[in-house]
Amino acid sequence: MVTGGSGFVGRAVVRAFLERGTPVTVVDLQAPPESLRDRVTFVEGDLREAEVRDRAVAPGCAGIVHLAAITSVLKSVEQPAATYTNNVEVTQHLLELAREREVGQFLLASTNAVVGDIGHGTISEALPVRPLTPYGATKAACEMLLSGYAGAYGMSTCALRFTNIYGPGMGHKDSFVPRLMRAALSGEGVEVYGDGAQRRDFVHLDDVVQGVLAAWDKQYTGTVVIGSGESISVLELIEAVRAATEIDIPVTHVPAKNGEMPAVIVDVSQAQRELGYEPAVELTDGLRTVWADFTSGAR
Ligand SMILES: NC(=O)c1ccc[n+]([C@@H]2O[C@H](COP(=O)([O-])OP(=O)(O)OC[C@H]3O[C@@H](n4cnc5c(N)ncnc54)[C@H](O)[C@@H]3O)[C@@H](O)[C@H]2O)c1
Repeated sequence: MVTGGSGFVGRAVVRAFLERGTPVTVVDLQAPPESLRDRVTFVEGDLREAEVRDRAVAPGCAGIVHLAAITSVLKSVEQPAATYTNNVEVTQHLLELAREREVGQFLLASTNAVVGDIGHGTISEALPVRPLTPYGATKAACEMLLSGYAGAYGMSTCALRFTNIYGPGMGHKDSFVPRLMRAALSGEGVEVYGDGAQRRDFVHLDDVVQGVLAAWDKQYTGTVVIGSGESISVLELIEAVRAATEIDIPVTHVPAKNGEMPAVIVDVSQAQRELGYEPAVELTDGLRTVWADFTSGAR
């Protein structure tokens, strides 16, 4: 059962399970894309409602991949209570159903934002959690719940801490890669906060799917960082998007935002060691897949 299976990451995860012949139930507020609609069991509804969760976690469910969440940091700052309900309460209820119904395993989409700002240090699973936003705090709380359920009931629970994901199907997003793609399409420029030297780890959707499947196959219990393992500056990302789109996107520098992390640099060696995860998509190649999606109008 994939929660948020109609979303950006969810659609790709669902497709990957279907390609392996694994039957999938999607629960989401919105319908899956047409290409998936006839191939999944779709439970339409809000996971905050018990009746929806009850229908979603059917008897015999082998595992839950929990992706549904309030995913915007900005929205979480504006609506901390709603973020708590959507992210933490829903996760607690789903874990409880998984326990009662003896669901084999529970995977959660988490984030490296649980760690907070460590400057230019390298983020690994070993660091303490010190989230700086309601979004990060709710994901950290979910990770703790998963850990508690694994400890007390021997359940397989795994939190996958994704870095910045990019790939086809992100047209509805407001993150930097789709903003650059829109800028390339429209011929307008993009705004860069500060000097653009801030570093980020961009991981392709295919690599994220690989990480999810690897954790699923291993029935891994614990926390793992899933990223590309190579951080680049915002200016380097812009250069890569210019190369992928062959469009010279103009850039305007605007004052840096308060609280923006100077760097997100991650160590993926635990995922490599424990899951056999190996990020494979080169950045410019990966950005071409996003550009192809934007120019096909499929977004
Ligand atoms: N995209 C990234 O870069 C990134 C990075 C780190 C972590 N994550 C996490 O990965 C997960 C998937 O992210 P995404 O980028 O695919 O987001 P998305 O917004 O594209 O998809 C989320 C889906 O969840 C559904 N949903 C949300 N609340 C729901 C509810 N109460 N009931 C039913 N459905 C609900 C939405 O309708 C949507 O289809 C999220 O948990 C997010 O926090 C994403």
